[in-house]
Amino acid sequence: MSPDLRVSFAGVEFANPIMTASGCCGYGEELAKVYPLSKLGALVTKSVTLKPRLGHPPPRTAETASGMLNAIGLANVGIDCFITDKIPFLEKQKTRVIVNVAGSSLNEYVEVCGRLSDIARVDMIELNISCPNVDEGGMEFGADPVMTEKLVAAVKKVFPRPVIAKLSPNVTSIATIAAAAEQGGADALAVINSLVGTAIDVETWRPRLTYNKGGLTGAAIKPVALAMVNAVHEKCRLPIIGIGGISNGSDAVEFFLCGATAVQVGTALFIEPDVPVRMLGELKAYLKRKKLSSIGELTGKVRKY
Ligand code: DHB
Repeated sequence: MSPDLRVSFAGVEFANPIMTASGCCGYGEELAKVYPLSKLGALVTKSVTLKPRLGHPPPRTAETASGMLNAIGLANVGIDCFITDKIPFLEKQKTRVIVNVAGSSLNEYVEVCGRLSDIARVDMIELNISCPNVDEGGMEFGADPVMTEKLVAAVKKVFPRPVIAKLSPNVTSIATIAAAAEQGGADALAVINSLVGTAIDVETWRPRLTYNKGGLTGAAIKPVALAMVNAVHEKCRLPIIGIGGISNGSDAVEFFLCGATAVQVGTALFIEPDVPVRMLGELKAYLKRKKLSSIGELTGKVRKY
C-alpha cells in the first residue's frame, strides 16, 4: 500500500504536509505555470497589508554562504487589490490557501483579517508577527508575549477559520511567545521566520541590502529552526508548521521528528521551483522504507538521549 501523505490540523485536511513559505512565490501565479498547485499541501501567500507597499529599494536580496538575506520591506498589492485581482486566481486552485497577513498596528491586522473573513477560499490566516524588515510593527509584536496574545485574540474575534501565528527566532525565548499565542487562541504555529543578519561589501563599505540588514533564510538556519521547533513542541500543544532551510524529504523528516505536523519550503524554491514535487516522492519513499503508513507516526518522535 502506498503511504498516506495526508495531514490534518486545526480541523483542516491537507493533501500532503508540504507548503510554500510566505514571500517565496508571491500569490502563486508564477508557480502555477511550472506545476499544478494541487501538488502542494497549501500555498502560503506573500504578506498582505492594508495599503499597497512598494517595499525597500534594491538591492533587497543578497546571497550568503549557505543562505540568503532579504529585506523586501513587505512589498505587496494591499488588501483591496489582493481581493479583486488575486483571489479569483486562487479560487481556481485545488490546494489549501493560507493568506499571510502583516500590519503596523493591531487595528491594521484586524481590518485586513476582517476583510478576509467571508472569503471561504481563504482556509487559514498566517499572522506575520515576525517580519524583521519594517520600522513599525512586524517583529515588535512577535517579540512581546503580551502583544502576541492580544493580537492573536483580536484577530480570532474577526476571522472564523484557523489562525496560525508565525513566530520570530529573534527573541530570548520562542517557547514563551508560543505559549502566549496559544493563550490568545492561535490554532497553530509556524516556526521559524528569518534570523536578523547582514553582509557588507568590503569595496564600498556598504551593506549589501539598502535596509542595512535583513532576514537570513536557507540551509544556514536549519539547525536553529529544528531546535526551536523542538523547544516549542515541548512547551506547547498546538500543531507546528516547521520552516527553515528545508530542501529535501530528509530535511522535512527531521522537522517532523522534532514536533512538526507540516513544513514550509521557502528559499529552496528560488533554486528549484518544483522542489515540493520532488520532496513528495522522497517522503513517500522514506515512509515505505521505514514501513510507516503516515506522517503522523513521525511527529515529535525524536529519540532523545
Ligand atoms: C519580509 C521579510 C521577512 O523575513 C518576513 O518574515 C516578512 C517580510 C519582507 O522584508 O518583506
